[in-house]
Amino acid sequence: MSDGTVETVPGWRTLVARQRPPWPDEARLGEVVADLAASPPLVTPDECDALTARLAQVAEGKAFLLQGGDCAERLDQASAPAIERKLGLLRKMSAILPLPVVTVGRIAGQYAKPRSWPTETVDGRTLPVYRGDAVNGTAFTDVERWPDPTRLRRVYDASKYTVDVLRGGMFVSHEGLLLDYEEALTRRDLRTGRRYAGSGHLLWIGDRTRQLDGAHVAYFASIGNPIAVKLGPSATAEHALALIDRLDPDRTPGRLTFVVRLGARRVRDLLPELVEKVTASGAAVAWVCDPMHGNTFQAPSRHKTRRFEDVLAEVTGFLEVHRALGTHAGGLHVELTGEDVTECVGAGVGFDDLHRRYESACDPRLNAGQSLELAFLLADLLR
Ligand code: PEP
Ligand code: CO
Repeated sequence: MSDGTVETVPGWRTLVARQRPPWPDEARLGEVVADLAASPPLVTPDECDALTARLAQVAEGKAFLLQGGDCAERLDQASAPAIERKLGLLRKMSAILPLPVVTVGRIAGQYAKPRSWPTETVDGRTLPVYRGDAVNGTAFTDVERWPDPTRLRRVYDASKYTVDVLRGGMFVSHEGLLLDYEEALTRRDLRTGRRYAGSGHLLWIGDRTRQLDGAHVAYFASIGNPIAVKLGPSATAEHALALIDRLDPDRTPGRLTFVVRLGARRVRDLLPELVEKVTASGAAVAWVCDPMHGNTFQAPSRHKTRRFEDVLAEVTGFLEVHRALGTHAGGLHVELTGEDVTECVGAGVGFDDLHRRYESACDPRLNAGQSLELAFLLADLLR
């Protein structure tokens, strides 16, 4: 550590880290991690604290969080024009909304994906599943699917480049999935003694890694950044309350955001109890709607897709639940791109268009036109 004190082994290391790739070359992983631990962090504690203060306004009902970007960033697509288009799109969407907006990119580190299955079988052949560019490649070959730790250094370099292109124009966030990478970039703030993830301003725990006894919750409890947790349909109110106790024991507004992704058909049934019990506990979390991950299905063409109308329906249900309870619908978390892709159907894209420009390596994103349309409809709903 830079302050010369001897760090004890972080507590999360003794716990189960779900979704950790089976790195075949642990020695190489150790070298890459040591190299990252000696590299400058991408964000500073002051910037992270500034985001916590902005998110406190969201938790208090005075502002709205707009969080968006790719499902999975690609190492070979970190180009300044593409990054600027994404920033421009998020800024336009923010400007459309009728209250102060905190804009946070799903960017500069969103390179690791949790997967439902460890392997994938095509035409009788089984290989490791694609886990994001941080781990392996998309092509269905032995070499590409081999988890390669040197990719973590490339993620750092691409993320640094992205942060440089953004020049402070936006906060950055990603799923803190690969704890080897996150720990390597975690630094202690010498002024306060608190640890901060240096890989992004806001990190979130995915729906598959939010176990109370797991390594992810333990790591996240150890950092001072603003953090979020995704809550899918299996999340109970009791689980949400236990997460608050572990991750926000001091009840600091802005520290903890819940990103709920329940699906258009279930949001009205499942969300009220979560919000009611958390609100009754006195916790000041920010509530954010992810209308993407509960609404994915396979198109006849076998493309993974989402319907724009389902996305809008989940947002509408989310707002209605909060209105009925007198609580603040605090934000929107979306997978989008500034490019003219055809990945989600509706709002100008038909099933027959999906093959035209389907570029996502993981989940389907809203294109720029669909994103702006969603922002206009959301603005109407918020008024
Ligand atoms: C994601 O945000 O891409 C994702 C995998 O979400 P979740 O953890 O909610 O499934
Ligand atoms: Co996704």
